[in-house]
Amino acid sequence: MTGWWLLCSLLCALLLCALLRFTLRSPVPPFPLPALHGRTAIVTGGSSGIGEAVARELARCGARVVLATRNAVRGEEAAWRIRRDTGNPEVLFMPLDLSSLRSVHAFAAAFLQQEPNLHLLINNAGVSAGGTTEDGFSLPFQVNHLGHFLLTQLLLQRLQSSAPSRVLIVASSAHQAGRLCMAKLGQPPPGPFAAFQDYCNSKLANVLHARQLAARLQGTGVTAYAVHPGFVHTQLFRHTPLWLQPLWTPLSRFCFRSAAEGARTVLFCATQDGLQPFSGCYFADCRPLQPCAQGRDDAAARELWERSERLLGLQPSLFSLHIPLPFPPCVQQCSQQSPCLFPSNSSPHLPKISVYLQTLKRFISCHPNQTWCFLLALGSRA
Ligand SMILES: NC(=O)c1ccc[n+]([C@@H]2O[C@H](COP(=O)([O-])OP(=O)(O)OC[C@H]3O[C@@H](n4cnc5c(N)ncnc54)[C@H](OP(=O)(O)O)[C@@H]3O)[C@@H](O)[C@H]2O)c1
Repeated sequence: MTGWWLLCSLLCALLLCALLRFTLRSPVPPFPLPALHGRTAIVTGGSSGIGEAVARELARCGARVVLATRNAVRGEEAAWRIRRDTGNPEVLFMPLDLSSLRSVHAFAAAFLQQEPNLHLLINNAGVSAGGTTEDGFSLPFQVNHLGHFLLTQLLLQRLQSSAPSRVLIVASSAHQAGRLCMAKLGQPPPGPFAAFQDYCNSKLANVLHARQLAARLQGTGVTAYAVHPGFVHTQLFRHTPLWLQPLWTPLSRFCFRSAAEGARTVLFCATQDGLQPFSGCYFADCRPLQPCAQGRDDAAARELWERSERLLGLQPSLFSLHIPLPFPPCVQQCSQQSPCLFPSNSSPHLPKISVYLQTLKRFISCHPNQTWCFLLALGSRA
C-alpha cells in the first residue's frame, strides 16, 4: 500500500514539474538578427544573465557593445568571454554602479567623452535584494528605476543625435504586483515581504518609465520599450532565503528559460524593423502585451517622471521634453513630410496654427503644469 502511495506521489510530482516547465519555459524560437556594424549599444548589467546574453548577440551581429556594470573583474571577464565567443573586438567594459548617483554621472561623462554615437541603450541591470543605497533610496528602486532614469536623461541628447535609436527597459511581469506610493517614492515599503514588494514596485516604475519616455520622445527618432524576458534561470534571486532554496533552485534550473532564451524579446525590440508604432509598449514573448491597469496609467507615469526628476534634482524644462526650440519636432517633421500643411507662399518655418495646437495638446498631456512654459517659448519666438 505504501509503495502505491509513493509511486503516485512521485508521478504527481513529475507531472507538476512537466506542467511547470511547459508553462514557464516555453521559449520563443530564435529569429535572424540584422547586421549591426557601425551601431553602438550600452548594456547595463552585461556581466551576467540576460544582459550578457543580449550583449553577446549584439556583438555577434557586429555592434560595438559597452558592458556597463559595477564589478570590474566580472565586467572585464564577461567582455573577454564575449570577444572570444564572437570574434568581435569591440566589446568593452565601463564601470557603472547604479546604486550610486555619483557613479551614474561619472559613467555618462566618460561615455559621452569617449563615444560619438549611441543607438541602443539597454537598461537591464537589476537587483531583487532589499537595502538602502548611499543616496538614501531603497536599493531596488534606485538600481532598477532611478539610476536608469538618470542614465537615460544624461544620454538622451546622444541618443537623439544618433537617431534612429532605441531605449529598452528590462521590466518584468512582476510589475503586476507593484503598487507605487508616490508620496513615499524611493522608500522601502513596510511588511514581511518588503524586498519582494519593492522589486515589484520598481518593475512597475520600469513599465511607466518606458511609457512616459516614449510619449516625450515622439517624433525625435528615439523610441522606448519595456520588456518582460520571461522566467529566466539567472543569479537574480541569489538572495532567496535559505529555507526557500531547496524549492527555488530546482524550480529555476529545470523550469525557467536559459539566459539566451530570456534575451530574445529584448533582442527583438532592439533590432527588429517596424516597431516605431509600438513605442512605449510592454513586450513579452516578442509581442506587445497589455501591462496591468497600473502600468497603463498615464497620470501615474507623468507623476513618476516628475517625482523622479525632483528626487534627482533635475530641472524640468522644455529641453527635458526634447522639443528643440523654436519649433517642436512634430512641426519640423510635418514641414518635411507634408509641405501641403504650409501655405505655398510662406517658408516651411511658418506652420499652420493647427500644427501648433496639436503640439500644445501633446505638451499639456505630458506636462500639465508647464503649459505656461510652452506658451512663453512660442511667444519669445514670435
Ligand atoms: N531572471 C528572471 O526571471 C527575470 C524575470 C523578469 C525580469 N528580469 C529582469 O532582467 C534583468 C536582468 O536580470 P538577470 O535575471 O539577468 O539577473 P542577474 O544575472 O543577477 O544580472 C543582473 C545584472 O545586473 C548587475 N547589477 C546589479 N546591481 C547593479 C548595480 N548596482 N549597478 C550596475 N549593475 C548592477 C549585475 O552585476 P553583478 O554581476 O556585479 O551582480 C548583473 O550583471 C533585471 O532587470 C531583472 O529584473 C529577470
